[in-house]
Amino acid sequence: MIVLNIELTMKQMENKVVLITGAAQGIGFATAKAFAVTGASVVLADCDKDLINKAADHLNADGYKTLAIVCDVSDDAQVKIMVDKIVATFGRLDIAFNNAGIQNALADAADQTIEDFNRVTGVNLRGVWSCMKYELQQMRKQGNGAIVNCSSIGGILGAAQRGTYHGAKHGIIGLTKSAALEYASRGIRINSICPGLIHTPMADKMVADGQQDALNTMLAAVPVGRLGRPEEIANVVVFLCSDAASLIVGHTLVVDGGYSIQ
Ligand code: NAI
Repeated sequence: MIVLNIELTMKQMENKVVLITGAAQGIGFATAKAFAVTGASVVLADCDKDLINKAADHLNADGYKTLAIVCDVSDDAQVKIMVDKIVATFGRLDIAFNNAGIQNALADAADQTIEDFNRVTGVNLRGVWSCMKYELQQMRKQGNGAIVNCSSIGGILGAAQRGTYHGAKHGIIGLTKSAALEYASRGIRINSICPGLIHTPMADKMVADGQQDALNTMLAAVPVGRLGRPEEIANVVVFLCSDAASLIVGHTLVVDGGYSIQ
């Protein structure tokens, strides 16, 4: 009989090499910290050089094992270089959280620009596609690995003026399920996570951009009655990547305080 032992699960993380994109702040940084405390070696990747170096320095100062890499996930060549650097440094890649994402400029479908569509899908959809591609090239050589892709409740719901973001986030779920089927029998599990409203710099930016009323309306419909905390997503990502989740394959895990069940 296998008994779920959280301490043992965390211990199994100790020698893992973990990549997190969009790790400079918000959900990505909280997840980097959650993996770091297990003793894993954590690669923090982000397109913002100053922020990612500060984030890694912060964790290093607390004695954790980290490596900062500057990478724009919307650039396929940079993603390849990032994964090559991880393998050159650590010899392997065990876990990846493809988290980097951005919001679209609010506009009706008839008024959205090709530039904004390309910008948002380039990061949120093609970025995840590139990351998975190079991560899987390494993981299939190893014969093991775990990947979590960051979708959103925008990946399962619609919202006026947010079609580009929601379209990309729906796409992540399709990429995840398809790849999960390909690799389930080869020791690699791939899942996606759908956070609800989480208090991060992204949410603060939405307020600064004049979206306070829209956020308040959403918040009023969150059954737990509050914004989520980045750590509440981080914990779920660590669980999904652990052996405790060994039978969870191609799943879309919604973590939204009950918002989307209504
Ligand atoms: P955030 O804006 O606070 O942090 C995102 C990080 O990604 C930043 O450090 C940023 O520099 C980095 N980034 C942006 N574009 C990048 C690129 N091209 N390459 C590499 N790094 C890049 O965002 P937050 O809130 O932490 O969101 C993380 C993920 O969670 C995103 O995919 C977002 O769509 C998703 N999400 C967030 C929700 C929320 O309420 N905060 C709700 C649902 C999903």
